[in-house]
Amino acid sequence: MNKSIYRQADYQSKSDQDKFQEKNLPILRFSKNIAPSVDKGKNNRPGAKQYTSMQALAEFERWSRTYDRSLLQYLLFEPTHQVLLRYLGPGDRKILDIGCGTGKFLVTIAERFPATQLVGLDLCPGMLQRASERCQPYGSRICLVRGDSTYLPFQDNQFDVVTCSHSFHHYPDQQRAIAEMYRILRPNGRLLLVDGDRDGWWGWFIYDICVPWIEGGVHHCSARQFRQLCQAAGFQQIQQTRFGYLAPFLVTVAVAAKSSVAGQLPVARAA
Ligand SMILES: C[S@@+](CC[C@H](N)C(=O)[O-])C[C@H]1O[C@@H](n2cnc3c(N)ncnc32)[C@H](O)[C@@H]1O
Repeated sequence: MNKSIYRQADYQSKSDQDKFQEKNLPILRFSKNIAPSVDKGKNNRPGAKQYTSMQALAEFERWSRTYDRSLLQYLLFEPTHQVLLRYLGPGDRKILDIGCGTGKFLVTIAERFPATQLVGLDLCPGMLQRASERCQPYGSRICLVRGDSTYLPFQDNQFDVVTCSHSFHHYPDQQRAIAEMYRILRPNGRLLLVDGDRDGWWGWFIYDICVPWIEGGVHHCSARQFRQLCQAAGFQQIQQTRFGYLAPFLVTVAVAAKSSVAGQLPVARAA
């Protein structure tokens, strides 16, 4: 992968990284801007409980040991990946998967589209450890970065597609995360954003009652909130489709409409 996609100043030094390498964690890059330094953000729903990246980190570090054996793989995550594949094509050469977890979707894309270069970003070293084992056979085609969705350590206009599957409800500052996705997409690049569909009564019960009871103050957006977040960041041609019954999920597809002329920025770009 061309090194120029990375914003070098955002990364830890080689010696800091080596401390992780000694722990047998062969992740290629470590962003400096991760929890708890980003815990200032708050959810964008009035009255929503405060939720921090530290909470997400603690949850997924615990869960990483058994994550790949979870029932949710069969009920929700794998069906989502199969749906997302339909939105991708061989022309999508550079793809970033945010909240990539144990790398299952990265490998699924790599198998289906052999010319694609992939980057997976996740907050949690435990998840990335498993991702690195899974992605090893693909060599430099799949790069892994430890980072936070609200401070993406990439240059502007780099990716053809950004995917984000069942991770968004963990982001403390959801508007900023969307603005970052917009920033790093090339003009007319696409965002494929998936999260639990909380709009029906069953989805509301699962994602607004049960999941926060287990995970704390996470926030699943309604379809309308996703549209508003995307529009505020500068996305256009927003399309939304509902899938699943037992575990319903919503796919939001949006195009990063921006001028390719340098210096022209969207309305609500992250500060
Ligand atoms: C439920 S898992 C989904 C993993 C994967 N996308 C999938 O479809 O199987 C959510 C992932 O989001 C990651 N995550 C949570 N908050 C994050 C943040 N602020 N930045 C980056 N990743 C985050 C977690 O570490 C976890 O790996």
